[in-house]
Amino acid sequence: MEVWFPGLSYLVAGPRILLENYKPGVPISITTPETTYVHLSSPDHIRELVDAPEELLSLHALSKDMFKPEYTMNGLVVQDDMQQNGNLHTRVFRVLLRSHLPALTDPLYRLLSAALEDRFNEAASLSASTSNMNGWSTLSTFEMSKKVVVVANARAFFGPRLASSTKFLEAALSYPEHLLTTAEVLRFIPRSLQSFVAPILMRNQWASKIMVSHITAEIERRRQQTSSNSNQAQNDVDCIQFFMDSTRTNTRKNGWSTEKIVQVLLGIWFAAVHQPAIALVYALEDLCAHPQFADGIHEEASALSTPSYEAIDSLPLLEAFIRESCRLHPSDSISIRRKVVSSEGGSDDKGEDVGRGYIFQDGTRLLQGDVVCVPSQAIMLDPHIYGKDSAEFNPGRFLRPAETVASTHVRNKFTELDPSYPIWGLGRHACPGRYYASLVLKIALLHVLEKYDIKLGSSGPSELRKFQFRSSIVPKASAQIMFRRRTLRN
Ligand code: HEM
Repeated sequence: MEVWFPGLSYLVAGPRILLENYKPGVPISITTPETTYVHLSSPDHIRELVDAPEELLSLHALSKDMFKPEYTMNGLVVQDDMQQNGNLHTRVFRVLLRSHLPALTDPLYRLLSAALEDRFNEAASLSASTSNMNGWSTLSTFEMSKKVVVVANARAFFGPRLASSTKFLEAALSYPEHLLTTAEVLRFIPRSLQSFVAPILMRNQWASKIMVSHITAEIERRRQQTSSNSNQAQNDVDCIQFFMDSTRTNTRKNGWSTEKIVQVLLGIWFAAVHQPAIALVYALEDLCAHPQFADGIHEEASALSTPSYEAIDSLPLLEAFIRESCRLHPSDSISIRRKVVSSEGGSDDKGEDVGRGYIFQDGTRLLQGDVVCVPSQAIMLDPHIYGKDSAEFNPGRFLRPAETVASTHVRNKFTELDPSYPIWGLGRHACPGRYYASLVLKIALLHVLEKYDIKLGSSGPSELRKFQFRSSIVPKASAQIMFRRRTLRN
């Protein structure tokens, strides 16, 4: 089969192939259906990759190939060169969203708790009508997780009005699925046919159309309020407002156009839902597999007088637990991926033509169109970095012994950028949504621990509960957890 479709096995086993071939510091080249992926793990290579100029190694050129934004994101125009896209969208998440997390914590706590309660109640009523399992019920963990994250994100991105619209939430939940399947099929279709096939694959765009119309109306409503001198719009704490405020300049009084704000938010929506939802599934499964940590986390949380941002962000065991869960069960096996778009090359010392591409300082050569990235999962399992027990679940590795530190026992924050923990990437493209993602995960876990006992359903051991697709490691829809309302906590 590989003879006819080179790289086919990568589609269904990318992470496994990578782990089997990983040797610390040695570049690994893997053929995928579209191009060659070169995986770099030596500190020097990683440093050079992170610092390479956008016009040579581009994240956005690769995003364009992967997600086909012109068809899936309401016509979003993504430039290969970061300067042309502007880095404002990352500033909105890294600086503005982060600095407003204390104000968002209370609404997020209430919404996440309510959304989790809805999911658990719905599953409990279904289980009650089919069988009696001593108060235990089952639910599909990934489905629950996506719904819950969509509600929280809708609040943080678009504000309370859209976060309470059932129609909008349905569309916001379906849109990432449509985007993913459409982009995937388009990757195998000749460019000339893509514009005909894309609308059909996007289910006639119903989800994106509803998202676009609702977000557009919300922005326009706020613009009108501002121009009629009402103060209300200025008080909104959400990403729509951050974009409206931060793109205003002396010459552009209204800031970015409504269309551009909508496109940029849609462009980020997929990653902002998909990644935290998967992390939540794996963290819940890890809580089931390692119940000894549940009481400890609940205990440190019960000491909180109010669930403020600072309080939630200073629970050492919860922090270390999530960090360990994402280390052993990441949603992706690679990060810091860039497409080689350079026009470097030409001839070498001997005058030989070396073609266009990118040449690392040690002579490692990539061809134009190759993708270069870091094998993050393999690095996070590397015994040279994490010791002989690197494959064991041990949040303690991220905690300091209590006696050595007075104020905090956390050695590594979950959101820390660290070459030996590259789930967020590194450098200027490092995930700007990581502080928000961390807060959402923490709130969701705290609510579950407070209200429920949980255990794994019958969908088998960890490997059978997931599947691999390209570089991703995704929970199966059939994977379930069992839960029972907690009556007493010792
Ligand atoms: C567990 C959850 C998440 C993980 C593991 C994750 C991981 C990543 C990674 C690996 C990158 C690319 C870094 C690079 O190539 O150097 C990235 C970029 C990005 N992430 Fe996240 N992410 C998560 C959640 C989020 C959320 C919730 C948001 C939005 C609120 C977000 C917004 C972004 C944006 C805008 C970029 C692009 C940055 C740029 O263009 O420079 N992410 N993320």
